[in-house]
Amino acid sequence: MENNQEQQVVSMPRIGDAAPEFTAITTQGEINFPSDYKGEWVILFSHPADFTPVCTSEFMTFATMEDQFAKANCKLVGLSIDGLYSHIAWLRTIKEKIEYKGMKDVEVNFPLIEDIKMDVAKKYGMIQPNEDSTKAVRAVFFIDPKGIIRTIIYYPLSLGRNFDELYRVVVALQAADEFKIATPADWRPGDDVIISPAGSCGAAKGRMEDEELDCKDWFFCTKKLDKDVVLDKILKKETQSVE
Ligand code: BEZ
Repeated sequence: MENNQEQQVVSMPRIGDAAPEFTAITTQGEINFPSDYKGEWVILFSHPADFTPVCTSEFMTFATMEDQFAKANCKLVGLSIDGLYSHIAWLRTIKEKIEYKGMKDVEVNFPLIEDIKMDVAKKYGMIQPNEDSTKAVRAVFFIDPKGIIRTIIYYPLSLGRNFDELYRVVVALQAADEFKIATPADWRPGDDVIISPAGSCGAAKGRMEDEELDCKDWFFCTKKLDKDVVLDKILKKETQSVE
C-alpha cells in the first residue's frame, strides 16, 4: 500500500518552477496550458468531485467573482478527476437549480478540465493519497504571465477555500512585482508595504535616516503605498488587454 501511494505522487511543482505543460479537454474546449495564458495571470485549481456540496459552493463563488479576477488580469481554470459529461451536467445543475447565499442562476464560464486519467492532477501533485487516492485535494496554483508558479495553497477535501484570500494573493503578487516591495501579514491595498532588507551596514544606516520610511529597526522598514496607486496599476492592465 505504501509503495502504491508513493507511485501515485508523480511530481510536486514548487514555487518558482515553470508551470508543467499539458493539453486538456475542458468545458470550454481544448486548452494548452500554460501557453494559452501567456501574458495573463491564471489560477489553476482542483476540486475533489462534481456534484459535491463544498465544491458546488466554491464553484458558485468563483464564478460570481470571475469578473473581479478578470479585472486583475487573472483567468480561472478548474480541474477534477471527472469526465466531461459529468462536468457539463454538474454545471447545468448549478445554473438551473442551486441557490446559495444569495447566488443563483450562476453560469460557470471558465474552463473545467476533465482529468479521468489523472494526468494533470499527477503532474501538479493534486492527488495526495493519504487524504484520498482517487480525488484531487483542493489545490490552488497562482501562475504569472511568464508561466511561473508564484504561490501554491492546498486545502483538504472538507475545507472550502477563502476566495477573498485568493483574490488578495493575486493583487499582492502583482503589487510586489510592480512596486518591488513585499507585503506584510494580512496586507490589503492601502496598507503600508515592506521594503527589502538592507544588504549592507551603510544601507541599514541610510534606511534609519530616510524620512519617507517608517523603520521599526534597521531590518524592518515600511512605507506608504496609496490604495488607488496600487489598484490603478493592477486593474489598468486588464482594461488595456481587453481593449
Ligand atoms: C464536497 O465538495 O462537498 C466534498 C468533496 C469530497 C469530500 C468531502 C466533501
